[in-house]
Amino acid sequence: MPNEHYFTPEPTAAGKRREFTVTVRGHRLRFVTEAGVFSRRRLDPGTRLLLAHLEVGEDDRVLDLGCGYGVVGVAAARLAPRGVVTLVDINSRAVALAEENLRLNEVENARAVQSDGYEAVAGERFDVIALNPPIRAGLAVVHRLIEESAGHLRPGGRFYLVARTRQGALRLGEKMRKALGHVEETAKRGGFRLYVSRV
Ligand SMILES: C[S@@+](CC[C@H](N)C(=O)[O-])C[C@H]1O[C@@H](n2cnc3c(N)ncnc32)[C@H](O)[C@@H]1O
Repeated sequence: MPNEHYFTPEPTAAGKRREFTVTVRGHRLRFVTEAGVFSRRRLDPGTRLLLAHLEVGEDDRVLDLGCGYGVVGVAAARLAPRGVVTLVDINSRAVALAEENLRLNEVENARAVQSDGYEAVAGERFDVIALNPPIRAGLAVVHRLIEESAGHLRPGGRFYLVARTRQGALRLGEKMRKALGHVEETAKRGGFRLYVSRV
């Protein structure tokens, strides 16, 4: 289907499955991916930057927002062995792969659910929300994901966002400041910037 993107809710494009291994903060993790999901050939460099700096406590509740095949959620579950991780994505294939990758890595403290933004976690609050935003889905979607984070963070919670500088990272950082009252740039590398808002 020529008009499908990685954020298509029900992708139909068929493609070969791939498998790769990445080491995140000392944890060796395995992933399967397929056509129709974001960065299916390798760990995205923005996601790598996010994972290098994500502060996750051992019993934190974490939301992997726009999880794709699930790399952030799987890694977060390792960093929070006594916590709980929820992975959400609008794309059903991404959610199916994230579920598969949770099993592949024998993660028991996480679940993956299909969700438009925070829909499936209404009323829930998290210590950490991590987002590599779906820039191609449009600024309105990305702004909504930032704005609505305010209602889903616990006191002391952190909202992380990584984006390419040339795709408007600085403006997204400003959006975070407006929505959450604080923002800082925690890392910058290879054309990406990582921001965190602490509430
Ligand atoms: C840039 S990708 C990041 C994927 C993954 N976290 C990673 O770092 O590899 C953004 C993800 O957001 C998802 N997405 C787009 N719009 C969404 C929405 N309204 N609600 C939830 N997820 C959405 C896309 O399907 C995609 O998987």
